[in-house]
Amino acid sequence: MTETLDFKTTKTSKSRLQETDFDNLPFGRTFTDHMFVADYADGEWKNFEIVPYGPIELSPAISALHYGQAFFEGIKAYKHADGTVTIFRPDKNAIRFNKSAERLCMPTLPEDIFVSSIAAVVDIDRDWIPTQPNHALYIRPFMFATDPYLGVTPSGTYKYMVLIGPVGPYFSKALRVKIETHYTRAAEGGMGYAKAAGNYGSSMLPGRKAAEEGFDQLIWTDAKDHAYIEEMGAANAMFLLDGVLITAEAGNTILDGVTRDTVIALAKEWGIKVEERKVSVAEIIEGAKNGKLTDAFGAGTAATIAPVGSISYNGEEYFLSDPKTREFSNRVFQTLDDIKYGRVADTHGWNYTV
Ligand code: PLP
Ligand code: COI
Repeated sequence: MTETLDFKTTKTSKSRLQETDFDNLPFGRTFTDHMFVADYADGEWKNFEIVPYGPIELSPAISALHYGQAFFEGIKAYKHADGTVTIFRPDKNAIRFNKSAERLCMPTLPEDIFVSSIAAVVDIDRDWIPTQPNHALYIRPFMFATDPYLGVTPSGTYKYMVLIGPVGPYFSKALRVKIETHYTRAAEGGMGYAKAAGNYGSSMLPGRKAAEEGFDQLIWTDAKDHAYIEEMGAANAMFLLDGVLITAEAGNTILDGVTRDTVIALAKEWGIKVEERKVSVAEIIEGAKNGKLTDAFGAGTAATIAPVGSISYNGEEYFLSDPKTREFSNRVFQTLDDIKYGRVADTHGWNYTV
């Protein structure tokens, strides 16, 4: 597919690969030797290029910095035991990328160019893909407005870039989560479904406050009544309640996660009933009390399948079963891993081979 995209490549003169400590890869701090860049101007995408990873020069007046026309994606690539490199479901991210672009009044990028650009940079830095368990190459495509203009109006120019870097797990233990009932992440008519930079910016203060109380993640609730569960800060929230997999419906306030979609597909294949609907805080707390909530986890690209250890609500902490003993989330985690690392046949066509 890469042949559909014409781009220039400038290779680094000095690779940092040998000096990178692959036994110590905290999420999001290590970047490979190269990155992908493209510019949008005069109504079209141009200057497709792979260049050495490094700083870029920008006007301090660019509208992304002032008015937040900026969004991103998160994807992972894996190296199989036989050396094959695959990217997990990048076609889904391409679609979501353009949904974000449209919501933020930014230009879309043809889906095949999105996928090809990612594959191209993964290909050039394929030696950077870590092979230890739970490790992968994280791919961060993003777009931002570059007009040096302080008027509040959509920019006429944009930059699209792809950074990649080897990562370990985003969460290292079962999550202690808090149901947020004061702050709001997204409201009807807002941009919750977009992977807008601003959605994450507005979550920093509530997230910091929760972290100071010892919580790992917030569970966001609806903006109106704080009575229904939406999602977590960096993952979709999924629950097994009375044998049914339940998760918030993907309306316009939550991110329509690729992992969420994948988990739902697997659950349905396994004959488990799935409900995408309004999930009330009351039923989750009741289930935690009476033992019918047998599984709860975050589902996301960075987070993978992240078990929830306890849920706090109105100052009360409810402890769930030992994550190691949970049948559903362990089966999902294992199956997903087996598919991503090529240990079982990819019968769904989820792996894109680089
Ligand atoms: N919700 C939020 C707010 C996220 O940041 C993420 C991570 O990307 C997700 C959900 C999960 O989405 P995905 O599975 O596509 O990574
Ligand atoms: C992802 O899972 O890709 C995310 O974007 C979550 C977080 C790192 C923001």
